[in-house]
Amino acid sequence: MEVEEAGELETAGKDVAEAEYHSHDFEWEELKEEVESGPAFSYHLSPFPEPAASTTSPPQLSSEAWRSFHRRHASGKFFKERRYLLKEFPELCSSKDHAKVLEVGCGNGSTAVSILRSSERITVFACDCSKDTLERANEIISNTKGIDIKDRFHPFLMDVSKETFPDWLFCKACQCSLGKDAALLLDPSHHGIRKEHPVFLRENQCCAGGMDFITMIFTLSAIPFDIMPTTIEQCVSVLKPGGLLLFRDYGLYDMTMLRFLPHQRVGFREYMRSDGTFSYFFSLDTVRELFHAAGLVELELEYCCVKSVNRKKGKTMQRVWVHGKFQKPPT
Ligand SMILES: C[S@@+](CC[C@H](N)C(=O)[O-])C[C@H]1O[C@@H](n2cnc3c(N)ncnc32)[C@H](O)[C@@H]1O
Repeated sequence: MEVEEAGELETAGKDVAEAEYHSHDFEWEELKEEVESGPAFSYHLSPFPEPAASTTSPPQLSSEAWRSFHRRHASGKFFKERRYLLKEFPELCSSKDHAKVLEVGCGNGSTAVSILRSSERITVFACDCSKDTLERANEIISNTKGIDIKDRFHPFLMDVSKETFPDWLFCKACQCSLGKDAALLLDPSHHGIRKEHPVFLRENQCCAGGMDFITMIFTLSAIPFDIMPTTIEQCVSVLKPGGLLLFRDYGLYDMTMLRFLPHQRVGFREYMRSDGTFSYFFSLDTVRELFHAAGLVELELEYCCVKSVNRKKGKTMQRVWVHGKFQKPPT
């Protein structure tokens, strides 16, 4: 992970939270023009060999790289509360009573903590492929002043690139009862108490009943591009009809993309850091296609363009993030 991603950037004359919120310090089209006409950047634009010939790592290697990343950074240094998220996604704090959120790839809990703080009635389920980071997230959140997380924070271990979400989040029978297909409801074996029955479910409760929100904050870019569609489908399967998927991630031509060297390219707009973790840089069209293919409706989609100053190095950097909000059609 980049130093800048750890929050060591200073942002010229602004509070960081304010600066990261929906900013348009520069025009993305102008940056695009500069990058696409600059010979120094040409290797970022060239087509990439087909998957069979490419060096893209299989998903288990990518998850393993994240696990060792978290083992190496056990201090919690990469925790940085994302207060700006509530400005980006105000529905998280203005939502109806007892909303349920699934934070995918929660890391040390930077996003989860802001959501938990926004309302005492919100419950956050949070998964990650690293046991170490889940433990750290639990520790950090439990020790955060002003948040009572009792029964409101449920971290669980899961590799979203190859596993399916546990039934206790949203079981098939409950999904069907919300949709038109009621066939499964007639089959009592589909609506029993799960073998795995987490303590937060009441005795007679088969599952959490689906999520009102899913947050994917700098997580999809960490997953190899070819398995993004199935990962998104997975996430959508536990979202209630009418629920929202809230997305924020690296945008095309972000400064951190332009700093990757040619040998670090592992796919089109896809790079591998020296520690083996992946980073993909999204255009709006790619995000649109990925989420539409999973049956979601686009509500908001734009680039956030922020000029940041690294005072130590005296450098100005152009950061690009994608902000997206998608809805699962109500049945
Ligand atoms: C850049 S961090 C983002 C953390 C968090 N969402 C936040 O807002 O700070 C990406 C996280 O995704 C997790 N991750 C990467 N691949 C994953 C996978 N296949 N399944 C589950 N989590 C994964 C990593 O362990 C890491 O914690």
